[in-house]
Amino acid sequence: MKALILAGGKGTRLRPLTYTMAKQLIPVANRPILHYVVREILDAGITDIGVIISPETGESVKAALNTVFGGRADFTFILQEEPAGLAHAVKTARPFLKDEPFLMFLGDNLIQGGVRQVVAALAGGSPAAAILLKEVADPRPFGVAVLDEQGQVLRLVEKPKEPPSSLALVGVYAFSPAVHGAIDRIKPSWRGELEITDAIQELLHLGHRVDARILEGWWLDTGKKDDIIEANRIVLDEYTERRVEGEIDAETAISGRVTVGRGSRIIRSTVRGPAAIGSGCLIEDSFVGPFTAIGGGVVMRAVSIEHSVVLEGCFLDGVGHVEDSLIGAKARVKRSGGTRRTLRFFIGDDCEITI
Ligand code: G1P
Repeated sequence: MKALILAGGKGTRLRPLTYTMAKQLIPVANRPILHYVVREILDAGITDIGVIISPETGESVKAALNTVFGGRADFTFILQEEPAGLAHAVKTARPFLKDEPFLMFLGDNLIQGGVRQVVAALAGGSPAAAILLKEVADPRPFGVAVLDEQGQVLRLVEKPKEPPSSLALVGVYAFSPAVHGAIDRIKPSWRGELEITDAIQELLHLGHRVDARILEGWWLDTGKKDDIIEANRIVLDEYTERRVEGEIDAETAISGRVTVGRGSRIIRSTVRGPAAIGSGCLIEDSFVGPFTAIGGGVVMRAVSIEHSVVLEGCFLDGVGHVEDSLIGAKARVKRSGGTRRTLRFFIGDDCEITI
């Protein structure tokens, strides 16, 4: 079986970060989301992996995967010129997929378990497709499935205004080659995209069987800023172990599960886990609270920060208390001297600043 990761798209809901980086490379607990995706696929025993990339961010996606998984996975990078939908991406990957069954994984979805279940469902009962569903409070931003009493899929609808159930489509699917015929028959949706949800609905319409599995673990769709911070909280909470490789001075207190990377120095500060600090950081007179991930090479002075994600190379100086924040790479945020508490920012388009 092959796998197809979708790592194209423009990530408009995560601007301004996605003006300069692929949304699938935004780090959660200091690792790109895409690394968790590849790990899940390798854990399911699949090593022949196609990766859909966009012209804008393709090179950085290639680099991020080849450097970490080079020897363990066999990647084929496939350029999708326009983000014309998930089913369009499958169409573009047809020469790679040939007539083999495949696992499709959206590169911005983080899930706990579930991949093996979907793969086994396709292999075991030979349906045309197997999908993964999760019960959510508000399914309107997702594809939504209706099942019968036996758990067979009856109907699917993409982003319904009035959801027919609370079962959202998680971005993990297993397909037989029958999906290609269905994709050839569908038309673009109201948002101008060839929707994979419509292709699965077309399989049903053509009389094929589609099986569903319900995901018991968590599912994080990292489409927006708060989703990234929430994903960061959950992943830090679940996986952080105490590992301090940097230098900690005598006036610093580190409590709980905290990782501090090589070459980092922490001076007169408090760090409370779960938290991750990358390598080569300098943190002085600061408080780093729970559920915070600080990327490599960050310099921080007189800052109190918690429940936040700071990307690599940032410089934060005297900005007071920061929480629920996502700060892009190499951003510089500082407070000027004097009593007027003046803050000066040089920050990209579409930023949101709450003071
Ligand atoms: C896509 C799918 C949707 C699915 C979601 C999961 O939505 O079209 O059915 O529920 O991924 O992340 P999009 O991210 O394109 O809005």
